[in-house]
Amino acid sequence: MNELNFLSEAELADACAALRRGEVIGLPTETVYGLAGDAANADAVRRIFATKGRPADHPLIVHLADATQLPDWASDVPEAAQRLAAAFWPGPLTMILKRAPGVLDLVTGGQDTVGLRVPNHPVALALLNAFGGGLAAPSANRFGHVSPTTAQHVRDEFGEAVPVVLDGGPCKVGIESTIVDLSGDIPRILRPGQIGADAIAQVLGQPIATGAQQASPRVSGSLASHYAPDTPAERVPTERLDTMIRQAHGSGESVRVLALRHLPNGVHGLVMPNDPEQYARHFYAALRSLDAEGAERLLIELPPDEPRWLALHDRISRATVAPSDDDAP
Ligand code: TXA
Ligand code: MG
Repeated sequence: MNELNFLSEAELADACAALRRGEVIGLPTETVYGLAGDAANADAVRRIFATKGRPADHPLIVHLADATQLPDWASDVPEAAQRLAAAFWPGPLTMILKRAPGVLDLVTGGQDTVGLRVPNHPVALALLNAFGGGLAAPSANRFGHVSPTTAQHVRDEFGEAVPVVLDGGPCKVGIESTIVDLSGDIPRILRPGQIGADAIAQVLGQPIATGAQQASPRVSGSLASHYAPDTPAERVPTERLDTMIRQAHGSGESVRVLALRHLPNGVHGLVMPNDPEQYARHFYAALRSLDAEGAERLLIELPPDEPRWLALHDRISRATVAPSDDDAP
């Protein structure tokens, strides 16, 4: 073991060699595990899409060792990008910038922009520094499935199709990076994450737009059903939870509940931390473990309707459908 406490020098060298051969590997980051390949190698990028089963028009995020590599990937690095990099990198923030001429169409989905981020995880940073180039890495889950936050989740997703998975422990952030688009007139949040719009606006000293611009297919997380467990999952306001559980039990359905404060008596499920950062850290693992129990329905209690829970409302929405009687009086 080296000072990383996670992987040996030999493992690091092997992973680097695999990347240079154009292979894809499971890579820990602070947000979720990625399925990483050489972003400058078209075969490697094709392999990422094929392994995930992801449509080719969904662009990938390129991971870098540090912000000095930005000009290799972006043709224009505005001052806003420099400031955000200084404030938040390494960290859970992806910036969308105008792409440099050499960046593969496969990586950008044919767009004139590219997503870039420096992850805050010792294993990812060690590998990026050893590798030298950019690593394209979407979340290491099959397309549309729940994101992975442990090495075992990645093995569960892909098995032998991804033989090398670096184990960097459970992800500390637990949900995907905030995506901010700096390629337009005003900065815009395309995907909420742990770093909130307020924090970004404060660093930039200017207001930023939130909410997707129309229904953009460019952010795959913007598809209605994303990050979804196999068990049909519904989001339920706290005040309706007991009724929903009673109804399900009454009709003989097996249910699992992802609850916030407590689990009602006789109900199977998990109680989540009542703090957004702690909740996020455990969210995907909790979804996966309840999903594995094979119940007929999964009920997710909605967190408070407060800005600090925004990213989790987003992820819960994508993992669920609204309750069938959502529009009842
Ligand atoms: O936290 C994360 O961002 C994780 C870890 C592994 O770094 N990665 C991740 O990748 O969530 P992925 O591929 O699952 O989601 C990346 C999102 C996609 O929804 C993609 O459409 C969007 O970023 N994206 C990438 N490049 C873009 C671009 N040029 N313009 C707009 N959206 C872009
Ligand atoms: Mg993903």
